[in-house]
Amino acid sequence: MEAQIAVIDYGSQYSQLIVRRVRELGYFVKLYQPDDINTLNSVSAVILSGGPKSVSDKDALDIDLKLFKKLNIPILGICYGMQLLNVKYGGIVRSEEIKEYGPSRIQIRYRNKIFNNVPENLNVWMSHSDSIVRIGGNGYLLAVNEKGIPAAIKFEENIYGIQFHPEVSHTEHGSTILKNFLSLQANLKQFNMADYVSELQKEIQDKVRGRKVICAVSGGVDSTVLCVLLRKSGVRVIPVFIDTGLLRKNEKIEVIENFKLLGIEIKTFNYSSRFIKNLKNVQEPEEKREIIGNTFFDLFFEVAGEIEVLAQGTLYPDVIESATSGSVASRIKTHHNRVDKILKLKSEGRVIEPLCELFKDEVRKLGKELNIPDTILKRHPFPGPGLAVRILGCITEDKLKILREADYIFVRLLKETGWYDKIWQALCVLLDCKTVGIKGDERSYEYALSLRCVDSSDGMTADWSRIPLDILNRISKEILNNVKGINRILYDVSTKPPASIEWE
Ligand code: XMP
Repeated sequence: MEAQIAVIDYGSQYSQLIVRRVRELGYFVKLYQPDDINTLNSVSAVILSGGPKSVSDKDALDIDLKLFKKLNIPILGICYGMQLLNVKYGGIVRSEEIKEYGPSRIQIRYRNKIFNNVPENLNVWMSHSDSIVRIGGNGYLLAVNEKGIPAAIKFEENIYGIQFHPEVSHTEHGSTILKNFLSLQANLKQFNMADYVSELQKEIQDKVRGRKVICAVSGGVDSTVLCVLLRKSGVRVIPVFIDTGLLRKNEKIEVIENFKLLGIEIKTFNYSSRFIKNLKNVQEPEEKREIIGNTFFDLFFEVAGEIEVLAQGTLYPDVIESATSGSVASRIKTHHNRVDKILKLKSEGRVIEPLCELFKDEVRKLGKELNIPDTILKRHPFPGPGLAVRILGCITEDKLKILREADYIFVRLLKETGWYDKIWQALCVLLDCKTVGIKGDERSYEYALSLRCVDSSDGMTADWSRIPLDILNRISKEILNNVKGINRILYDVSTKPPASIEWE
């Protein structure tokens, strides 16, 4: 679906964040490549992102300002986007001695709509090595930073540039500035999930055209919402659940029950021994993921037989997160995309990805719209490779049993204390080391377990959750007293970045 606001991606590490912030303001926005702009028909505002290049580089990405002007819509250039606009208006950008990466302070010199409800001085986040030394056209300065560098410019009516990054949380009042910019466009409509669902259902019917759709389900939020959405779009859907043997305690039964509640019967296949056998003696995380991914798809295609249409629960961050971002999740998704059979089905127009424009929290909202109960929608994310990436080193049945029991207690206590719904995700990691302890009167030599709880809105960045100490104490005691094989508990206090959410 075409977005009403377009963020043009000039390659900044923050481009996705701009999309995220604008979605948080309640508008339907998507990231587009500079060339895509010619294909947009109904876009109502444009934001040009930052980027790693210099506008004077020979291969610098360009912009067709004349085309934008014809559209007569508000344009905001951020960082590189602002410098590009400046050059287009005949101004000068130079690589200066002063390069700024990090916090900076700006002063608003000229009051303007985009600074409504923003104080005169504010802390912002900068990330640039080039600066504007002469403003182009009839543009004029709205704000400068402490070093005298232009921080905001109005080029002409509805066309602005800002040197700092309003999308980064370190910029004070960043969302207000974005909101002020968008308020320049009177025609913007707030995103409405009910309307979106009916559009999506029409799109699904058009694409499926009466064919049978198969999809793999895990019981997680994305695949469940996908399945219910297809069903409610009138599609004949066959949900397939493969037990990898890497699931949590009682998980398979819960998933079957949950789907029953939704009136959907799933086809289950138990292939745990195949996965465990293929993972024997494998230590390296990427190797584990590859083996699990390959085994999963081999089996899935075996049970699926002739596929008419395959539905996948791909989300927007998977689409826009570049494969170079280094995130474990993005790498595994690229692995999925490399599977030959899926590529072939794609080339034949037989793959649908109805959730591919949504962030995780939006998928939950969509699920709510489809009347899926909260017990399912509030389930924490669980990675495809399951407990295999939460057991460091080689996987054995014994370690799986220990981790399952610990995880079961952990999640139960978080639910009992009301913390499960307050956090994004909780996980236990069985470390690949044994430590000395005393159990009863005897020396013990058992595994150490790390607990991790994180707060996040989309899994792309995360902070560790401040679980009260008395609750951590209760969890620790219950695990130590009841799980044979563990004699030490740690709590992980790492943010993402630099740590990822999962340990492998
Ligand atoms: P990381 O560990 O990259 O995880 O910070 C971010 C989010 O993605 C989940 N995750 C995965 N999900 N397959 C999935 O379906 C995977 O291989 C995978 N790896 C990580 C992770 O649980 C977190 O919510």
